[in-house]
Amino acid sequence: MSEQMKTRYLSVDSDVDNLTETGAVRTAAALLKDNLTVAFPTETVYGLGGNAESREAIERIFRAKGRPADNPLIAHVARKDDVYRYASSVSEQAEQLMDAFWPGPLTIIFPHNGTLPEAVTAGLSTVALRMPGHPLALAIIEEAGVPVAAPSANTSGRPSPTAAVHVREDLDGKIAAIVDGGATGVGVESTVVDCSSEKPAILRPGGITKEEIENIIGSVEVDSALSAGDEAPRSPGMKYTHYAPNAAVTVVSGSDRFFQEQINNAAAQGRRVGVLVPEEKKDLFTGVEEERICGSVNDMASVARDLYASLRSFDLSGRSDLILAMAVPETEIGQAIMNRLRKAAGNRVIAEK
Ligand code: TXA
Ligand code: MG
Repeated sequence: MSEQMKTRYLSVDSDVDNLTETGAVRTAAALLKDNLTVAFPTETVYGLGGNAESREAIERIFRAKGRPADNPLIAHVARKDDVYRYASSVSEQAEQLMDAFWPGPLTIIFPHNGTLPEAVTAGLSTVALRMPGHPLALAIIEEAGVPVAAPSANTSGRPSPTAAVHVREDLDGKIAAIVDGGATGVGVESTVVDCSSEKPAILRPGGITKEEIENIIGSVEVDSALSAGDEAPRSPGMKYTHYAPNAAVTVVSGSDRFFQEQINNAAAQGRRVGVLVPEEKKDLFTGVEEERICGSVNDMASVARDLYASLRSFDLSGRSDLILAMAVPETEIGQAIMNRLRKAAGNRVIAEK
């Protein structure tokens, strides 16, 4: 059972110079120090924060989200130096990645020194650390003076929140506060890269692309389970169905004609078909119940930015019982987009031969 409480809404003036001076940041930090849970924006998605040093706070996060206990959390820090307080060793490559991408959408896995409660690391020998790039997130963590564990601020399994209203949809009455900092920028979560062993590996594609990482440290592995839909990914969270709206999602890869055929087939079976397509395909298909535009193929960052809000919007209307999502090229941020779409679809992908 999750605790019931009145959720406070804290808004932030966008034109303040010193964020730490604002009431919202002070209040959020005070609640975190009291081991309560506060949702706040990061540059990727909204996070549900709690004091990473407090077992009580971590328990509250898991309860509010309905998150499986074997799925470890990312601890967010405001300074690079904080890494040495929790990691038992920091590889050369990890140093280089921190210098290149922090603050920013990159989470690094380190061997831990046992300082943080086991609930954060789900009993693993490693810990995930990230210094977020959003000024509000940094100000809140800094002011709280503790590392902040923060999974995405959605009910477990639902699309991650990219606006405060999404957090409200899922968690109102279950968390102490929501800091509204407007829409997030990147739209998909941070890239998770494992630097705890000799050969670095990407466990979750995200806001920093494989190419960008390889430019800094040379070739990296990609956890093969990510594309295969394997049962044993190295990042525990990747094994769950995720990011999914209520209607069933299927990813369709191929020509426009092939996409139209899939609509026709589903409609012939009595399905009410919603489509998720980029701007360039607007109004192209017939026989659809509803259409959602998700970014432009000429600007893949815009697809990432719109993705979760588009998926969520199908739930608001409730008109479709099947969503056909158009595949995007798996280059750069497209890797993260396709990873999330496949997860939302429980790996149902129809590809043209
Ligand atoms: O962009 C993000 O990373 C957002 C914002 C709020 O920072 N956070 C986020 O957290 O996406 P969450 O909990 O939804 O996803 C964390 C992922 C999960 O897949 C989890 O299994 C993985 O990181 N993870 C955490 N600790 C790990 C560890 N020690 N080893 C391997 N994977 C780990
Ligand atoms: Mg999540």
